[in-house]
Amino acid sequence: MRGVSKWIDERVDIVGIRKALLDRKMPGGLTWWHTLGSATLAVFMVQAVTGIILAMYYAPSPDHAYDSIKYLESHVASGALLRGIHHWGASAMVVLVVGHSIRVFTMGAYKYPRELNWLLGVLLLAIVLGFGFTGYLLPWDQKAYWATQVGTNIAGTTPVVGALLVKLLRGGSQLGVATLTRFYALHVLLLPAMLIGIAILHLIMVIRQGIAPRTGVLEAEAPRDTESPEYHRYYKERYAASKGAGVRFWPDIVVKDAVIAAVLTVLIFLLAKFVGAGLELPADPSDSSYVPRPEWYFLPFFQLLKLVPGSMESIVAVGVPGALGLALVLLPFYDRRSARSLGKRPLARFSLFGLLGGLALLLGASMREPKPTAIAPEVGRVLNSPERAGRALFERQQCGGCHVVAGKGGAERKGDAKDAPDLTEVGLKHSPAYLHSFIEDPSRFHTGSKMPAFGPPTLSHQEIEELSRYMSSLRGKNWATAKEEFVDTFPEPIKPKEKK
Ligand code: HEC
Repeated sequence: MRGVSKWIDERVDIVGIRKALLDRKMPGGLTWWHTLGSATLAVFMVQAVTGIILAMYYAPSPDHAYDSIKYLESHVASGALLRGIHHWGASAMVVLVVGHSIRVFTMGAYKYPRELNWLLGVLLLAIVLGFGFTGYLLPWDQKAYWATQVGTNIAGTTPVVGALLVKLLRGGSQLGVATLTRFYALHVLLLPAMLIGIAILHLIMVIRQGIAPRTGVLEAEAPRDTESPEYHRYYKERYAASKGAGVRFWPDIVVKDAVIAAVLTVLIFLLAKFVGAGLELPADPSDSSYVPRPEWYFLPFFQLLKLVPGSMESIVAVGVPGALGLALVLLPFYDRRSARSLGKRPLARFSLFGLLGGLALLLGASMREPKPTAIAPEVGRVLNSPERAGRALFERQQCGGCHVVAGKGGAERKGDAKDAPDLTEVGLKHSPAYLHSFIEDPSRFHTGSKMPAFGPPTLSHQEIEELSRYMSSLRGKNWATAKEEFVDTFPEPIKPKEKK
């Protein structure tokens, strides 16, 4: 072993690399908040690994995307878990990059000499959001389709280039095959390449410049303007002094980073295992009654758009994210005061708390809104429109008086109704066609059936069809993976009465 490492060292100088990377001195007093950047990197690794495996099963076409995800969840060992990890990892990445940016902002770490690295950070933030936006479409379920429809529409409100932008994003005027392959290519090729490249630059800068020391170190007797030569001299002196008293990257900092990475990995695993990623019905471009909902971290923005009057919408849709992005990009260039701690930066304090407060309020408001596309608890997913109509009929006709569904109903289960079967998983037992005929006239299936017939004139054929669709959606909690085993036996067709 020693021989091998010596041989390599003589050629590529690993000892030198190790010294530069691991033994480098860091300023003392770094907080747990300082681990957020490396934590983002750790979660990205998780995303890369799970993403590669998911890509092996995923088929990026509207005809197969949804089925390939369903196949993964029901037939591949730990497939659902894997997808859950990737799903929750994505949310974790957004939380972490935003948290990391807030940390850097509050500690004034974007100031001289780290302006360029702040810019790279802003780019990374945008890329992570881009991952979220493109990844959301890939399952090609209702949620994916309609959220992307709205998202691309918003891009379309951009003045002058709006129409072009929509065309570029969708790969045509409609959301379809071209959109899906396009988003897939962005998600697995362009964005990862950009993220890796920029993250490497970001890290090289961190290593070359060192981490910003605690705010107090650079504040006492600091010249006011960070662009003045005095400040540059002052900075150099102070930074060198803070490093002398400091800790080493290995092992002092690495241990902290590893602890956070481990905690996060466990958390993501638990969320994936017990909450999962969720899958709605396949995308149905004709179901315009579906009310779209984007991923939670886009909700505040979505809510904001709902609040503004229609005529203002396009201004807000493009203006707010545009202004925010521009403010972030320009921040280190207009804020040149040397004060670093938030206590000494009233404007920074005001903007940060204003922004976070606003985001929290908007997020809160959007969570409190009644959810028209909420999951039907007894079905475990959002219903499509015929199913929704069927569910309403089920209530109106008081089927639940005799039947139990997911532990509810059956209040009148006495006398004749005593034999009414539990319908919680009736969709696994019978095909929609069977259910339709049965509800129409149960006595055709069982002579003397105790269930009343609901065929015309009580209900129209369309209503019975809606009811049977709803019945067919009842597949218990694990609807996505459950296997149907129909036990339908249709009665002999009724012979048409001979005409006299
Ligand atoms: C008066 C009580 C009663 C009402 C009201 C009632 N059912 Fe039934 N239902 C029964 C009984 C009893 C059976 C079993 C009868 C049989 O097998 O012939 C049954 C059977 C069924 C089955 C077949 C289940 C299976 O596993 O084979 C379905 C589906 C069904 N009902 C749906 C409905 C729907 C939908 C409504 C409302 C439109 C409804 N029922 C209203 C009593 C009722």
